[in-house]
Amino acid sequence: MILIVLLMGFLMSKLYIVGVGPGSKEYLTQIAISTVSSVDVVIGSKRALDLFGIKAQKHELNVKNMKNMLNQSIIMVKEGKNVALLSTGDPGFSGILKPILELEPHIDIEVIPGIGSVQLCAAKLKIPWDTANIVTMHGKGISEGIIDIINNGKPTIILPNFQPSELVHFLIEKGIDHQRKVAICERLSYEDEKIVKMSLKDVLSEEFSYMCVMVVY
Ligand SMILES: C[S@@+](CC[C@H](N)C(=O)[O-])C[C@H]1O[C@@H](n2cnc3c(N)ncnc32)[C@H](O)[C@@H]1O
Repeated sequence: MILIVLLMGFLMSKLYIVGVGPGSKEYLTQIAISTVSSVDVVIGSKRALDLFGIKAQKHELNVKNMKNMLNQSIIMVKEGKNVALLSTGDPGFSGILKPILELEPHIDIEVIPGIGSVQLCAAKLKIPWDTANIVTMHGKGISEGIIDIINNGKPTIILPNFQPSELVHFLIEKGIDHQRKVAICERLSYEDEKIVKMSLKDVLSEEFSYMCVMVVY
């Protein structure tokens, strides 16, 4: 009997990968809120957890414990718990969906999309993003491939994963015109959100938050 109950729990439990948007509560979706309030365990970064009034068990995710916590979330689902893994922005773009699918593609997963930093950046700068190149540098270094992308006539929206000046240094060295226009959107949706426009070469002498999206026009 106990075995049947445990098996039923396992069969019905789910891992929800919940996009929480760019950071402000205003960009949280109703389905993200209702999903988080319905699960047994919530796992996310401090800034993601702080968006919700969580009554369930919660665990903070950070760079150091990331792999362990993702594994733990899978184990908890296998034990019969419903778990929400919070992913900033949208889980499917440089988010938590990919590492989870790599770790365990066979458990029951539901993805709740969120408003991504690329979307919000495009909206703020009035760029129809079906006309833009979209590039993430997360999980990879700077490679020559970026040069052809930046030169293909479309605006390029980039998640840098390091200081934008590092990328700009590389671009200028590879012959990209240092007068090309750039926009940098920092801490989108937060009270101290900042959007600046400058030429490529001016980026070299500036520092930006880790939370920034860069557009090369
Ligand atoms: C690990 S990626 C996560 C991207 C996320 N899944 C998304 O859809 O926005 C983290 C990067 O997203 C960007 N980012 C996330 N939130 C941001 C915000 N509020 N403002 C500007 N950039 C942000 C930054 O480039 C940051 O380095």
